[in-house]
Amino acid sequence: MQKQRLDKFLSNQLNISRNDAKELIKKRLVTVNGGTAKLFDMKIDPEKDSVSAEGKEIKYREHIYIMLNKPADVVCATRDKLSETVLELIPEELRREGLFPAGRLDKDTVGFVLITDDGGFAHDILSPRKHVDKKYFAVLEKNITEHDIELLKSGITIDKGEKCLPAEAVTAGKQNEIFLTLREGKYHQVKRMAEALGNKVLYLKRISIGGLALDESLKEGESREITKEELNLLKKYNN
Ligand code: URA
Repeated sequence: MQKQRLDKFLSNQLNISRNDAKELIKKRLVTVNGGTAKLFDMKIDPEKDSVSAEGKEIKYREHIYIMLNKPADVVCATRDKLSETVLELIPEELRREGLFPAGRLDKDTVGFVLITDDGGFAHDILSPRKHVDKKYFAVLEKNITEHDIELLKSGITIDKGEKCLPAEAVTAGKQNEIFLTLREGKYHQVKRMAEALGNKVLYLKRISIGGLALDESLKEGESREITKEELNLLKKYNN
């Protein structure tokens, strides 16, 4: 692992300015491997050295990956003039410079949004070539027929002749409720698929991405960090 300046490390990991990081060092509040740090530009190995600030050990992470259960009326953007953004829902201790939502849900869609500062990873997850599964639960206005399910499974044509890849489709309890697993991410895809069936989406929730399901214990608006093991599940593409 490449060595890093201590002030830069503190600034990145604690999401504070470089000046605030220097201030912590100046006040003798930072230790490296148990000894008080005195130099802003002391070189540390983030993976090997143990760094504490104000008595608390810093758990080094190169990147951060967050699972958010998005509520309705919040937009998947880094900033917005009118609406609350998903980033504003992230608690202080998980915030970092460069965070962004990897993939978008519509404003009225709820459920799993992945938020990260890892551009390469997000690109992989989002790349149409990787065909990462996204599973949705939808409530439709009208009942879903066997014929609808067959159309969805064989690859339905939505407006303007655009053909979708075959989707997994099963009704979910009630006849107007469906689990839909998509291998692509066309704009408003679930809503447009429903429209192609002469139906309408009343409620839409994303319940998994890749092999990783939304943590049911997260209430709408809540988020938590994704573990290393879960990250591997996310990376399970269906090529
Ligand atoms: N499909 C939609 O129509 N909307 C979403 O937010 C996600 C998938």
